[in-house]
Amino acid sequence: MEALPLATAVIVGGPVLALGGVTLLFLKNYINDQKRRSTSLTLPPEVPGLPVIGNLLQLKEKKPHKTFAKWAETYGPVFSIRTGANTMVVLNSNDVAKEAMVTRYSSLSTRKLSNALKILTSDKSIVAMCDYNEYYKTIKRHILTSTLGSNAQKRHHVHRDIMINNITQQFHTLVELHPSEAVNFRNVFQSELFGLSLKQAIGKDVESIYVEELGAVLSRKEIFEILVIDPMEGAIEVDWRDFFPYLKWIPNKGFEKRIQQMYSHREAVMKALIKEHMKRIASGEEINCYLDYLVSEKNTLSEQQILMLLWEAIIESSDTTAVVTEWAMYELSRNPEKQNRLYQDIQNICGYDKITEEKLCHLPYLSAVFHETLRRHSPVPIVPLRYAHEDAQLGGYHIPAGSEIAINIYGCNMDKKIWDSPEEWNPERFLDGKGDLMELHKTMAFGGGKRVCAGALQAMLISCVTIARLVQDFKWRLKDGEEENVDTLGLTNTKLNPLLAMMEPRN
Ligand code: HEM
Repeated sequence: MEALPLATAVIVGGPVLALGGVTLLFLKNYINDQKRRSTSLTLPPEVPGLPVIGNLLQLKEKKPHKTFAKWAETYGPVFSIRTGANTMVVLNSNDVAKEAMVTRYSSLSTRKLSNALKILTSDKSIVAMCDYNEYYKTIKRHILTSTLGSNAQKRHHVHRDIMINNITQQFHTLVELHPSEAVNFRNVFQSELFGLSLKQAIGKDVESIYVEELGAVLSRKEIFEILVIDPMEGAIEVDWRDFFPYLKWIPNKGFEKRIQQMYSHREAVMKALIKEHMKRIASGEEINCYLDYLVSEKNTLSEQQILMLLWEAIIESSDTTAVVTEWAMYELSRNPEKQNRLYQDIQNICGYDKITEEKLCHLPYLSAVFHETLRRHSPVPIVPLRYAHEDAQLGGYHIPAGSEIAINIYGCNMDKKIWDSPEEWNPERFLDGKGDLMELHKTMAFGGGKRVCAGALQAMLISCVTIARLVQDFKWRLKDGEEENVDTLGLTNTKLNPLLAMMEPRN
């Protein structure tokens, strides 16, 4: 939260400006108090903070999910904090998170977006960030029907097969050429995953593209930066005006310039990709991808909406699956006996054949490795903020309209009341014989209810087959000194330093 000290400076330097806001704040609290008195429920416990800025300074470290989990130990699973003028209710247990996602969904079905996200999502034009309304229902149907639903995933099977063969091939080559050097897992996997996301979205991987608005030919790496890396960084940019909406008339030039540039570069690249695709279609090439589907719906979608939905499919396919797969390979490299158990399981089911998606349902330990990694290293530690557009109840507390709701998935997955030794990575905890191991929602990692992750099936198929195939082909060991490299970065719990592993080909 880089901008927090800035926010403080504005308040300290501008007491007069702040005064009007403070009066509004007291008025809002007074009205909420009156409303609450009319119900018998109390407000959630509040984490003490400072006047005006509330708890902002306590959230300076860029890992709010960890701070929230710590506070839950003192204040209980539901508590509220103040981020400047806003009240945020934080949920840290499975029960109350499910209540928010399912039972109370109708009161909490809107999103509260930061200024950065408002710009980067073209004001809620994408499935994951829009409010629950007719537009949402239509576009969710589109992405499921054409790309992420189970029938669509069957159609895209061939892209995943090619991807996994490319990945193993590249690792074999690297190990052959440099047998005594550690391999950087992320370099290979992330690049192949991006290729897959492009094939699903526009029917083709690209090596480079001429972008008219930028007057330059961009390499694949530059395209990846503009479509994936920059917006992920932009999404956590903090504009101090997010916390003090009554000061929104004050310009924040540096922030606006950075986000606007990310926006316009992304627009330019997406337009160039769409133009190329249209040329291929005009030349008679037959392509079957998300863009074709969206174009066939062009009577109901604007060009800007098509561009945004296409970009959404690319960015969401390229990031979280890589995060969870890298953490799984880190944990397996660090735990040789668990890696060995997985290898033996795969051998028993597949023998000398290469693992395929059809075999996944016979490999409970693989499924346990996947779920345990999602639990221990939740790639989406906090669900994108919801907003109470009317008064609601949660966990037996009164939640006033206007509160932001943060569902702390990390907190749920590290709750000591549910998980023994939650800090430990221990796939065996999922082998208790209860429930279907292929069931995707054993942890809260994919959210739940109507807004449950649309890409869970794709993530599971790609991640599980990759993990299994890489353990089938190689014995993994962490490079010396890598054990303690567990710090994380950014919105999606990415491993701060890429996994470096020694790989020994089996057989
Ligand atoms: C391990 C990988 C993944 C994890 C942990 C994950 C997690 C999540 C979470 C927590 C949500 C929010 C649910 C909510 O708001 O309540 C979500 C939503 C979503 N995810 Fe994923 N995701 C993953 C992979 C993917 C992939 C590969 C895609 C493919 C494009 C994808 C597409 C979406 C979409 C479209 C939504 C919005 C659903 C809606 O609002 O109806 N996700 N995901």
